[in-house]
Amino acid sequence: MRAHVFPDYEAMSTAAADAVAQSLEEEPSTVLMLPTGITPLGMYRRLVEMHRTEGLSFAGATFFNLDEYLGLTPDHEASYHVYMKENFYGLIDADPARIFVPDGTASDPEVECERYEAAIAEAGGIDVGVLGIGRNGHIGFNEPGARFDSRTRVVELSESTRKINAADFEADRAPGRAITVGMATIFASSAVVLLASGTNKAGAVAAAVEGDVSESMPASMLRNHPNASLFLDEDAASDLGQGVAG
Ligand code: F6R
Repeated sequence: MRAHVFPDYEAMSTAAADAVAQSLEEEPSTVLMLPTGITPLGMYRRLVEMHRTEGLSFAGATFFNLDEYLGLTPDHEASYHVYMKENFYGLIDADPARIFVPDGTASDPEVECERYEAAIAEAGGIDVGVLGIGRNGHIGFNEPGARFDSRTRVVELSESTRKINAADFEADRAPGRAITVGMATIFASSAVVLLASGTNKAGAVAAAVEGDVSESMPASMLRNHPNASLFLDEDAASDLGQGVAG
């Protein structure tokens, strides 16, 4: 796993957008896996700008989102369907037939997870997986303890994640369950780029990079990946090299 430290959030976001753009330029039918949250917003803004001003096309690409809350309709304002439409898919030339976001309202969520895994396989697997990281080290909604051999499934969110994500909801906590792409599904991506910004990610970043490779720190799994990169701003990198216990 290679860590790249950029001076600030904008520089990190530009580098992330450049990495995605490069894969699209080399292979227009690239299969991308994408996160939501605060961290990737700068990357999406830059990719939209590249689409508008530099002719970057996404028309041949396939998109899989990492996760969605269970129980939220695709038009719920806090759903990841709406987030992606407003911040990315609705602003580029993506083919709607090749946009996949887990259906949080599926009558049988287990079947939905199997369908999602099958769709990824059908697309030929993920070429580039872009990830954020939770303060507890989660990737997708794979919370600490998620098995490295897990596939797309229904998960319980930790109390800390529900509180951090509460800002998107009227309640004081986010929904308790979600569908997430699994750890093994992420690991099978040909390339992974994990983005982290801000001092509140520094502890998780240091533990993932310098602590044990352990299911209690999901992002540490990427250390065993042959082509995983960390794109960090200086704040997110600020605990690196200071010694990490576990
Ligand atoms: C969201 C996702 C999560 C986030 C993580 C960081 O689709 O997969 O793992 O990437 O919770 O979120 P932010 O960027 O809001 O700090």
